[in-house]
Amino acid sequence: MGLVALLLIALPAVALDRSGPGIAATASTASRGSAAVNPATDGSASTGESADALSRRFAACTSCHGPQGRASPEGYLPRIAGKPAGYLYNQLRQFREGRRAVPAMTWMVDRLPDAYLLEMAQYFAAQHPPYPRPQTVSLDAASRERGRLLVMSGDASRSVPACIACHDKGLLGAQPAIPGLLGLPQDYLNAQLGAWREGVRNAIAPDCMATIAKRLAPQDIAAITGWLASQPVPAGGRAAAALPAAMPLDCGGLGQ
Ligand code: HEC
Ligand code: HEC
Repeated sequence: MGLVALLLIALPAVALDRSGPGIAATASTASRGSAAVNPATDGSASTGESADALSRRFAACTSCHGPQGRASPEGYLPRIAGKPAGYLYNQLRQFREGRRAVPAMTWMVDRLPDAYLLEMAQYFAAQHPPYPRPQTVSLDAASRERGRLLVMSGDASRSVPACIACHDKGLLGAQPAIPGLLGLPQDYLNAQLGAWREGVRNAIAPDCMATIAKRLAPQDIAAITGWLASQPVPAGGRAAAALPAAMPLDCGGLGQ
């Protein structure tokens, strides 16, 4: 089934409960302004709602993103479980503001206040279901090696830094706001790099990923995403607490 067909079927079936106690309980977090919110430490436990109640409240999300937000290696939908809360929170705000132009997601978070988005981000960041087996990708040996090299070392001739410089050496991201690159379908990865090149995905400025995506050659994108999508994730793999060294480019939204 195509993505459009999937969304058409899924959309009328989901209804997000926007009326839970969470909004009122976290209002003080929102009133501090988004710059002061630290999603990694402002625990959702403060809402007093049980994990079960939250999982029921976010059932609309898991109808597309799978139980606990685990998704699967096939198809298009990204895993959201276990990604750093700051990253998820930034994305939900970008969808709401149309800076990441995906109608299915914009509709889900339209007009929801920051405090509610933060609560959703914290909930999914705290889920750690096992990763699925890696995707089977058809990629010739030369492209596979080219993809691996770009991820691990970058390409100085095109001023492309190594992906591991920011996504960490294990490629599972880093707190508070850098996502992992493993366990995602190749179609999704391709679409994200394409969206940055075309300006329909925007991160908080400076948008380092837009710069990097535009520097990549089209055939290199397929090599990178094919290699990434076919990597297994070690059991218990998590985002790093911090990166070991300074990043090669400035990126916005990382709370510094
Ligand atoms: C109708 C299906 C659908 C529903 C329901 C849905 N999503 Fe999504 N979501 C998507 C799609 C499709 C994408 C990929 C968007 C893209 O291509 O950039 C996405 C992307 C995301 C992302 C970005 C992931 C990343 O790695 O950058 C987050 C975060 C997210 N969704 C959270 C949620 C939350 C929270 C809810 C519940 C409020 C929700 N989604 C409900 C379809 C859905
Ligand atoms: C200078 C640091 C930096 C480098 C180097 C870097 N990234 Fe990123 N990347 C980021 C940041 C920060 C984000 C989060 C952007 C946002 O908030 O939308 C990100 C997000 C992404 C995403 C979105 C993931 C998702 O779940 O939607 C993809 C895909 C990605 N990077 C691929 C790459 C690839 C491939 C490379 C190597 C060619 C690379 N990145 C190198 C900083 C970097």
